[in-house]
Amino acid sequence: MKKISTLMLLLLLWTMTACAPEAPVNDNGAMEIETAVSTTSSTTDPVGMGQMGQGRGRGMGKFHHAPIPEAYAGLTNPIPADEESIARGGETYATHCATCHGDGGMGDGPSGASLDPSPAAIAHTSQMMGDDYLFWRVSEGGLDDPFNTGMIPWGGILTEDQRWDVLNYVQALGNGQTMPAHNAGGAAFDEEEMAQQQEEMLATAVAATIITEDQAAVFASAHKIVDAAMMDKRGNGGGMGGMMTDTLPELVTAGDLTQSDADTFLLVHDLLEEAGLMN
Ligand code: HEC
Repeated sequence: MKKISTLMLLLLLWTMTACAPEAPVNDNGAMEIETAVSTTSSTTDPVGMGQMGQGRGRGMGKFHHAPIPEAYAGLTNPIPADEESIARGGETYATHCATCHGDGGMGDGPSGASLDPSPAAIAHTSQMMGDDYLFWRVSEGGLDDPFNTGMIPWGGILTEDQRWDVLNYVQALGNGQTMPAHNAGGAAFDEEEMAQQQEEMLATAVAATIITEDQAAVFASAHKIVDAAMMDKRGNGGGMGGMMTDTLPELVTAGDLTQSDADTFLLVHDLLEEAGLMN
């Protein structure tokens, strides 16, 4: 069994809604969490998180810590996220990505169901990670170390412009600028459900005395601030770096987050990781 010890909490939380391969979709296109029970519960799963439906979500968050190669670090999308670019990206997405990542970018496309790790909820990743990370991951894929996933390297298949266009589209999916096309299948990105999943995750961690209630509360509120800041940056179309490396320190500098809350945010993340809660 592959031990995945560094899954990042945030992505996991969001991707947990994309967990059950056959989860029903309600009238709003949102997955019904109660029935989204994982069938891939792990034996190294100390507190039964697998039963919370995280099976399909495991495995991609750890990559957000991977150092971005020099050739990609700092790149920002040169193509404005206008209607044309998003339309072009939408076509590429429907043809090449939706089958694994799902129509809504929730990681729940039909061809992704059997992959381990499962396809990432890239609609969410696109709000959390910088252009450089995204472009790197799309261009180079993840067939080799350190990823060893089913993600195809698109660098030799799609032109650079096509890759930037498709990222504009994925980001538009993630911030609600565009609605998913009905194509391959899968739920729409749903922020509220993601938040609910986070709550459940933290409650489980508190119950298992991995973190204290206070830490969970600080984490949850710090998380909202971080998330809003990431969305803002996206909305302004500016280039953005990673959450941990850029946004968190920026928020502290701006006085939006205390250093102590930022520290707790990272500590909670590490504690959950160490406890294997995020495998
Ligand atoms: C064969 C299935 C498959 C297809 C097709 C596919 N992907 Fe992926 N992709 C994956 C898997 C599996 C992962 C998760 C593991 C990982 O992060 O490497 C992934 C990861 C990613 C990531 C990194 C996400 C993160 O949170 O780190 C991005 C970005 C991405 N894919 C974009 C795309 C785009 C854009 C396309 C279409 C051009 C695409 N993928 C097509 C399987 C696929």
